Amino acid sequence: MPQIVVLPHHLLCPDGAVIEAPAGTSVCDALLENDIDIEHACEKSCACTTCHVIVREGFDSLNEAEEKEEDLLDKAWGLEANSRLSCQAIVADEDLVVEIPRYTINHASENH
Ligand code: FES
Repeated sequence: MPQIVVLPHHLLCPDGAVIEAPAGTSVCDALLENDIDIEHACEKSCACTTCHVIVREGFDSLNEAEEKEEDLLDKAWGLEANSRLSCQAIVADEDLVVEIPRYTINHASENH
């Protein structure tokens, strides 16, 4: 089963984690099933940006982002070339390394 290495996040997973996810699972569901409580404000319907992750390794193994996801990502805090909305990124058969950005747009607008 593919592994997902989750890099440390100060609140959600301070020590980082290594989890397993069957192919076909969204990265968001894989995180949630392993008690990494990533935000998913729109309930995974590709209508927010709170589930944003940066895929440090294995990006090319994921399904391609659709235009709607790309449009939303443009608004995400800390956007990078390998950013995805985790609820739309489906695990294939390769291992991944995933970073959860420090802020979501919700935090950014409250605190900055
Ligand atoms: S949870 Fe809203 S886009 Fe993923």
